[in-house]
Amino acid sequence: MRHLLDILDLSTEEIGELINIACDIINDPDKYSEKCRRKKLATLFFEPSTRTRLSFEAAMYELGGSVLGFSESSSSSTAKGESVSDTIKVVSCYADIIAMRHPKEGAPMVASMVSGVPIINAGDGGHNHPTQTLADLLTIYREKGRFNDLTVGLCGDLKFGRTVHSLINALSRYTGIKFVLISPDELKLPDYVTNNVLIKNNIPYEETTDLLAAMPKLDILYMTRVQKERFFNEQDYIRLKDSYILTPDKLTDAKEDLCIMHPLPRVNEISVAVDNDPRACYFKQVLNGKYMRMALILKLLEVE
Ligand code: CP
Repeated sequence: MRHLLDILDLSTEEIGELINIACDIINDPDKYSEKCRRKKLATLFFEPSTRTRLSFEAAMYELGGSVLGFSESSSSSTAKGESVSDTIKVVSCYADIIAMRHPKEGAPMVASMVSGVPIINAGDGGHNHPTQTLADLLTIYREKGRFNDLTVGLCGDLKFGRTVHSLINALSRYTGIKFVLISPDELKLPDYVTNNVLIKNNIPYEETTDLLAAMPKLDILYMTRVQKERFFNEQDYIRLKDSYILTPDKLTDAKEDLCIMHPLPRVNEISVAVDNDPRACYFKQVLNGKYMRMALILKLLEVE
């Protein structure tokens, strides 16, 4: 039985296979409409979500399966003190596969140790968000046609932004990748990612606070929200939340084929005036997420 807790649980070959399946689903969705008939997905969200939960649910419905679960822990027996382990043991009796989001880093790992069915990490604290990375990779593939030889700017909250941590892990396995890490000093990439991924694998990177200076060299600009829910001190959040706001004038020196990404939700980081720019790819990411989650469900359920 396979789980997906970290993007590194999938080899680059397996990511290639998932992308091929997702592209096949896009071209011929009817072929897949009964693949998961009589299968059930449980979505256990102990933390808020719009895209991840609903795209998992849409994915399972489009595969002909069904969905059960909860969208907040207060409506589950967690509110009565039930542990994550017991919750997972119970839900394993009802569902064939579980997608879970939890504020505690490592909670999906704990779940995988007691689960009778595959566990998918749909985001754990400030740690990882591997299925967002699958959405990001399909977007990069469809926009750029490759994962090699790209200069990738990551901008905003690189400390708490779990999507950034997973994407760096994923892209570091390809050749010719360079990262430009754009953040305030307080929200720099954690040392464990810098040391264990970038330095360990000799991946070129630079750290800067200056988005405008970095802009001309970027093939991809990945904006992120400052993660209010991870701050201990509201004053710090208020001081840092508008550190970067992408507006059309800031794109003057950007490449014509820049790919602007954002895992969403956005707050202020990208002006809505950028939405009509042909380089804005963040709503394409949303749709790509559904296709990649369909491909992932098929893989983990070992459906032909
Ligand atoms: N990108 C993402 O994880 O969005 P949600 O929090 O809405 O699921």
